[in-house]
Amino acid sequence: MSKGTVPSAIKAFDYVFAALANGYISFSLTGPMEILYRLSMESIRTLRIMQETSKRRLFQGKTIGLVPTMGALHKGHLGLVKRAKNENDVVVVSIFVNPIQFGQNEDFDKYPRDREGDMEKLKKEGADILFIPDVKAMYPEGFSTTVTVGGLSDRLCGAFRPGHFAGVATVVCKLFNSVKPTRAYFGQKDFQQTVVIRRMTEDLNMDLELVVCPTVRESDGLAMSSRNAYLNAAERKAAAALYRALLSAAETAKAGSSARPPDIKDHLIAALKGEQLISEIQYAGAYDPATLEELPEFKRQNLFALAVKIGDTRLIDNVMVDL
Ligand code: PAJ
Repeated sequence: MSKGTVPSAIKAFDYVFAALANGYISFSLTGPMEILYRLSMESIRTLRIMQETSKRRLFQGKTIGLVPTMGALHKGHLGLVKRAKNENDVVVVSIFVNPIQFGQNEDFDKYPRDREGDMEKLKKEGADILFIPDVKAMYPEGFSTTVTVGGLSDRLCGAFRPGHFAGVATVVCKLFNSVKPTRAYFGQKDFQQTVVIRRMTEDLNMDLELVVCPTVRESDGLAMSSRNAYLNAAERKAAAALYRALLSAAETAKAGSSARPPDIKDHLIAALKGEQLISEIQYAGAYDPATLEELPEFKRQNLFALAVKIGDTRLIDNVMVDL
């Protein structure tokens, strides 16, 4: 076998896989071929190439599922990818740490980045395309449009992170225009984000389906989050208090007692104050899942939500309580 044969064979495989992922050739795959195919994943960095690729797949009658992320992928993200894989012909996962959704004193620079690890996880999950634009491509010189969803963006997390949801809505709008998804997948963990994006898609007549997936948790109940990596061992242990507080508040509300929303707020705050490493409680209480406003009385569906700081790390969590 000549020296160049092995690398050329690998290259040839690469071309075949890229052609498969791209939709230039397609046939039914089973067994080892399917495994090989799953190991292939195309990376696209350019917005225009992403648009062209999506147009071609849509023209072929394929559906496209988009999972927008900022990377440092964990099982919460991968749950969205699995769901997208079940429901669409092509799955695009975007990784873009979006500078405009971080405040000046927030963690944009130290936000965890793990490109290699992310790619391995996505290949294993069978994602077809990784869309990974860079900051200059997303926000070229002269960029001056912001998508702002009024009202909803200012409540809960918005009150503590001014401009955050405008940054999210703007980037998600750009991702939608680049990928042209049939369906887009978001986690309930960031409940307010799902409400803001739903409002945007309805107000701006965006032709796609939003799918909200349940929060994936660690064994002690802590909602998985890329930011959990900031916690030291003691803080990590303390962080389980968030979900415990939400569960006990939900139990109290469901017990059919005379508890009203203000009692739930007191209950949550007392439970969170019981954990010494929680350095700040930004909000906690029972909210209307449609308007995100504090509830005067319970409704059928109620959002129990909270945001706290443990050391410098900001953590959020929520549960939906049906009464
Ligand atoms: P990121 O924090 O990376 O999250 C990407 C998606 O994964 C979001 O829809 C989020 O709600 C979901 N997710 C995160 N942790 C989860 C968990 N434990 N269980 C279920 N889903 C979970 O959210 C963002 O990025 C950004 O704001 C983005 C939408 C990508 C815009 O920049």
